[in-house]
Amino acid sequence: MQEDIVLRHLKTIPEMRSMQEVEQSVWKMESPVPIHQTLTVAKNGGILIGAFHGEEMVGMLYSFPGFLNGQVYLCSHMMGIKSGWRHRGIGERLKRAQAEAALAHGYRLITWTYDPLETANGYLNVGKLGVVCSTYIEDCYGDMPDQLNQGLPSDRFQVEWWIDQDRPPLPQGDEQDLLRWQLTAGGLPQPVQVVDNIPDAQILSVAVPAYFQDIKQKDMELAKAWRQATRQVFTRSFAAGWAVAGFRCHRGEPVHEYLLVQRRLLSLPQAPWQKGE
Ligand SMILES: CC(C)(COP(=O)(O)OP(=O)(O)OC[C@H]1O[C@@H](n2cnc3c(N)ncnc32)[C@H](O)[C@@H]1OP(=O)(O)O)[C@@H](O)C(=O)NCCC(=O)NCCS
Repeated sequence: MQEDIVLRHLKTIPEMRSMQEVEQSVWKMESPVPIHQTLTVAKNGGILIGAFHGEEMVGMLYSFPGFLNGQVYLCSHMMGIKSGWRHRGIGERLKRAQAEAALAHGYRLITWTYDPLETANGYLNVGKLGVVCSTYIEDCYGDMPDQLNQGLPSDRFQVEWWIDQDRPPLPQGDEQDLLRWQLTAGGLPQPVQVVDNIPDAQILSVAVPAYFQDIKQKDMELAKAWRQATRQVFTRSFAAGWAVAGFRCHRGEPVHEYLLVQRRLLSLPQAPWQKGE
């Protein structure tokens, strides 16, 4: 926990400008969200929070109202922490402050997308916050030119964070893995086999590489193979009624694991975008 980091809800034009600087620093993007847009969101039910070290904004979170199939929810579009400030709990604090403010506004569902192969996000979202996911979007945003995303289809999990209830614990029972992997001669994890038929089990696990950006830098073909293999297992298992509801973090190991259960066992409402599916 960072005692010297203070969180503040963002409202002013200078704060929106600082938010743009964080965006540019995190994604190395040319065009951050315009100030006329972020300011309007802040005045109309959005939740924008900055993490400050003194006067410097080192992290930000940007969310706005969503409305679909008669249901209102909070759409959390971006969270970024400047690189020297990551992995110190700031992201988790921002998300928890967002949930608290969202409940006070009357929201009960927060959604956002993230790349399931980015395991710091996976661990934070699924492992620590307790989101669930049964929506996989292939190439969600098309080609993305920024530094973190370039070179691969922008596949995303669309997660559900039901903030007025805890995610139920995983059932006890046997577990089967859906994706086999091995180490390459260079010591990078490589997917070798996707299980064809979903086995009969209480829990399914899916291995994902622990350092995906490292793989992208060293071996783009291998990164593509991970994208392809995980796309296949997640789309298949979600279509068969499974949902991601756990994350097993193996610190220092080459892969972590997502854990899936039958969605009906979670007793959660349907997400608005799943209605009519
Ligand atoms: C994703 C991001 C916002 C998380 O913020 P953060 O402040 O680093 O998050 P936290 O420290 O609260 O939580 C991250 C956890 O993942 C762990 N972690 C770090 N690297 C990891 C990895 N490769 N695999 C798994 N877990 C990892 C951290 O140790 C931490 O867990 P701990 O508190 O138990 O030690 C930040 O890394 C970031 O800005 N990334 C780039 C932009 C991005 O991807 N944004 C999200 C999509 S919009």
